[in-house]
Amino acid sequence: MLLMLDQLIVYIDDNYSCAVLVLSFSVCMTNCPTLIVTVGLPARGKTYISKKLTRYLNWIGVPTKGKEYQCATTALNDVREYLSVEGGQVAVFDATNTTRERRATIMKFAEQNGFKVFFVESVCEDPDVIAENIVQVKLDSPDYIHTDTEEAVEDFMKRIKCYESSYQPLDENLDKELSYIKVIDVGRRYLVNRVLDHIQSRIVYYLMNIHITPRSIYLSRHGESDLNIKGRIGGDSGLSDRGREYAMKLRKYIQEQNIKELKVWTSQMKRTIQTAESLGVPYEQWKALNEIDAGMCEEMMYEEIQKNFPVEFALRDQDKYRYRYPKGESYEDLVQRLEPVIMELERQENVLVICHQAVMRCLLAYFLDKTADELPYLQCPLHTVLKLTPVAYGCKVESIYLGVDSVNTHRNRPENVMAQRSTEDALQTVPAHF
Ligand code: G3H
Repeated sequence: MLLMLDQLIVYIDDNYSCAVLVLSFSVCMTNCPTLIVTVGLPARGKTYISKKLTRYLNWIGVPTKGKEYQCATTALNDVREYLSVEGGQVAVFDATNTTRERRATIMKFAEQNGFKVFFVESVCEDPDVIAENIVQVKLDSPDYIHTDTEEAVEDFMKRIKCYESSYQPLDENLDKELSYIKVIDVGRRYLVNRVLDHIQSRIVYYLMNIHITPRSIYLSRHGESDLNIKGRIGGDSGLSDRGREYAMKLRKYIQEQNIKELKVWTSQMKRTIQTAESLGVPYEQWKALNEIDAGMCEEMMYEEIQKNFPVEFALRDQDKYRYRYPKGESYEDLVQRLEPVIMELERQENVLVICHQAVMRCLLAYFLDKTADELPYLQCPLHTVLKLTPVAYGCKVESIYLGVDSVNTHRNRPENVMAQRSTEDALQTVPAHF
């Protein structure tokens, strides 16, 4: 019998006497952790790519940590701790890693620890893109606080020159055994080599869909619905009078913004379609944007759920992200359903998404890098547009209330989440419906 453990091979013969061979490397299994290593000269968007990829992987449920490093030893110690001890699945080692020698050291480290390595190289020679990158993200560094922009760019260009002489880009022949994607001229072309597994193919797919063209994404819930007024969740009701009023205000707001080539997306539910109809512009319906399916609890009031299914109601309060309604969905399910929407949002430029409370929370969590615990409690009030504009490594959020009253559908997590709690404790945070 042959058992393979992390760093041992144990051979047990028929008499159960046993021989142990200690190996100096770990066995790399199909699901072993992945180390993503960036490669490229300074100001080539490596940190932008690392941060965005880290945010995406965490959002789809792959525990990922990314960090910009100057010191390789610190970096590799951090990586080992995160992937071997803390339960991480992907670590991003964000540094220049411009020499073949440095990359070989990283490969050796990964082999010894049983990690797969995937390189992401950013190659860009467009001087405008490089200068823009320096201005956007490098000039905030303490080195340049008292320097004017032109001088700082010049100084940074000199730093880049120092790396250029030793830079050895990933090479189609010399590095043909490595797994990598080379992103050329911020996504004008790509070179992909030896993709080894599902996670690497998702990374490649993601990196081939993102762009850096300036744009804004507008998120709005539908106008207030008849079921919102009754304090009932889910269902497929139409807009209330105030909901219709909001739809007209939204039309005015969108017209005033004068947005170039705006795309409008809705779910397949009446309340988002009616909201979009009032805008008087073409729109597309996505089934994936439908509200979370509350299963057995559809069209019930929170008070009724507490009365009829108190244990279910408490379980949801204990872990709102992972809790799945009987015959319905969880927020975790919803994130999986929304992944194609996120991918398409990444491909598009200006988009208005008219959706629902739970759906909007999931989309917002992606753009604002919120954790699974924060996600189901994000504030997404009715009759309010959230305008998201990518800036440097993050996203600027503007909240625009369009001045039409509505019910408040937000329910905070109560203090007491035990199954045996009183009804009063369970409903403690339910807001008034009017
Ligand atoms: O169920 C429908 C709601 O829009 C989602 O709200 O997850 O805070 O209960 P909730």
